Amino acid sequence: MCGIVAAVGSDNVLPILMEGLKRLEYRGYDSAGVALVEAPGKLGRAREVGKVAALERLLSAAPLTGLTGVAHTRWATHGEPSQDNAHPHVSGRIAVVHNGIIENHQALKAELIADGYVFTSATDTEVVAHLVERELKVHGELLAAVGAAVSRLEGAYALGVIDADRPDRVVGARHGSPLVVGISDQGCYLGSDPLALLTVTDRFVYLEDGDLVEATRKGCVVHGVDAAGIRQPVVREVLRYEHDDQAVGKGEFEHYMLKEIHEQPVAVANALEGRLGSDQVLIEAFGPQARQLLGRTRQIHLVACGTSYHAGMVARYWIEALAGVPCQVEIASEYRYRDVVAPPGTLLLTLSQSGETADTLAALRHARKRQEENYVGTLAICNVPGSSLVRESDLSLMTHAGPEIGVASTKAFTTQLTSLMLVALALRQLHGGDRDLTARLVHRLRYLPTLLGDTLQLDGEIAALAKGFADYRHTLFLGRGAQMPIALEGALKLKEISYIHAEAYPAGELKHGPLALIDGSMPVVALAPMDELIDKLKSNLQEVRARGGQLLVFADPESGLEQEEGMTVVKVPGCCRFLAPIVYTLPLQLLAYHVAVVRGTDVDQPRNLAKSVTVE
Ligand code: G6P
Repeated sequence: MCGIVAAVGSDNVLPILMEGLKRLEYRGYDSAGVALVEAPGKLGRAREVGKVAALERLLSAAPLTGLTGVAHTRWATHGEPSQDNAHPHVSGRIAVVHNGIIENHQALKAELIADGYVFTSATDTEVVAHLVERELKVHGELLAAVGAAVSRLEGAYALGVIDADRPDRVVGARHGSPLVVGISDQGCYLGSDPLALLTVTDRFVYLEDGDLVEATRKGCVVHGVDAAGIRQPVVREVLRYEHDDQAVGKGEFEHYMLKEIHEQPVAVANALEGRLGSDQVLIEAFGPQARQLLGRTRQIHLVACGTSYHAGMVARYWIEALAGVPCQVEIASEYRYRDVVAPPGTLLLTLSQSGETADTLAALRHARKRQEENYVGTLAICNVPGSSLVRESDLSLMTHAGPEIGVASTKAFTTQLTSLMLVALALRQLHGGDRDLTARLVHRLRYLPTLLGDTLQLDGEIAALAKGFADYRHTLFLGRGAQMPIALEGALKLKEISYIHAEAYPAGELKHGPLALIDGSMPVVALAPMDELIDKLKSNLQEVRARGGQLLVFADPESGLEQEEGMTVVKVPGCCRFLAPIVYTLPLQLLAYHVAVVRGTDVDQPRNLAKSVTVE
């Protein structure tokens, strides 16, 4: 998705803006641009289609300098990726960068054209530049002009705005798209993500919806809207960013994704840290109100998008089996627009790596509005402290995966699963489940990071298999029970980064349709841990073999499945059935990764995809 960086400093800010853009590359984008106030009254601008490196080349041929500037990576929504559509957009003295979507842009555009404004792009953003320019003539001052302009906007936005006549300030606005303010002794910065600014500061103000901010070299003043709708200065806490900046590098690995796959034993250990007692989960470690909130929960609505949705699907099996609490899982973009019936005692549990996914946030807000009805409260499982989802939920459980840069989610997923297992066990404790199984699972959770480390030893074997896999055009993934969502996640990983079409099915559903696809050109990947469904799964695999399908089975050493003609078996370290979904995720991530490497795709930034989807 789009990324914003803006800066006002005491030196040329171009290097800060460019470094910020590079750090936002992971979000996914198709063009980039920058605008600086080069001298009072003079704006310089450069925009280029493609990577930030292409913009850098343009700038090395025609450099820009200035103490104030805005920069942007664009992920096209309105208008194709092109130089004209790239941000910043300029109107007179004003340059604007924008994340989000202005839903009433057509009506505003007609009004502005009637007023004599000329549009040079197909974007929704350009209306903002012209609106601010028009309001500046009325108010004579940037902050007031931006305030008046945003009062006309419908939709979601984060904005960074500069005025060529006021080189000492940048104005930002946030409504529905993330924006943070970074503060240092040398200047003040805006970013759509703190990661963009970690080379210049670790001190951040997380803006809230409706906030405007005026940033100068000396700091920032935030203007919020009070309950009566009056805009006035507000105090927002300055928070230190917790993560070590080293965590943002690739280290010895060729790709972020491979690094993040190999970080999973440590990430999962971090997700467990401080949350396990000797034979039970330490519910108080989730937060002071956790015991009361989970104790009052009678059912759960679990809402998420993408990979996070798959984690939710696994959790349904765990929560119902371990705690006996009914659990419904739904894609956020559906939940938010449905007339959901929430029976009394419903907990809304949202899952999100970024905590900024537009649909998940909207689902949370939809439920919060109706909290007085039947919802007991909201719990977010999230990887980004200070994100909107965390700030707007009653309770949050951080996954502690550390920064995840690869677009295809890996360690964020397994730490979500680990956190969800903790929630399932906490619910079991509060809802009177027998203690023996709880104690056994707590013991196994302690051992989970080691087990994941052992599973990663399969890397070489899977890399070799991937060579034979890369020429297929379609793949089918099969699993049963809690492995079914893992099959879905394996298929998603493969299609995201290798562009091979992949589908997943519950193995028991094979004969109701997908069996028609099976022939020698259709490989089938199956997950076969030792559980009560193993014999049923074996029968499903026979159905594939009988039709000439090529099987790749990830199997428990005790499963009795052995290599044979048409069936490759990779032995996954033995594990208990409840934790098997976490363990079996790893070989599927490795398979997708190595197939993508053989096919030569852009593993960390797959085409058309974004890391953080902050628009609907
Ligand atoms: C995008 C990412 C996925 C992610 C999904 C949900 O599609 O590419 O990797 O699973 O958004 O993101 P979230 O941050 O809410 O988990």
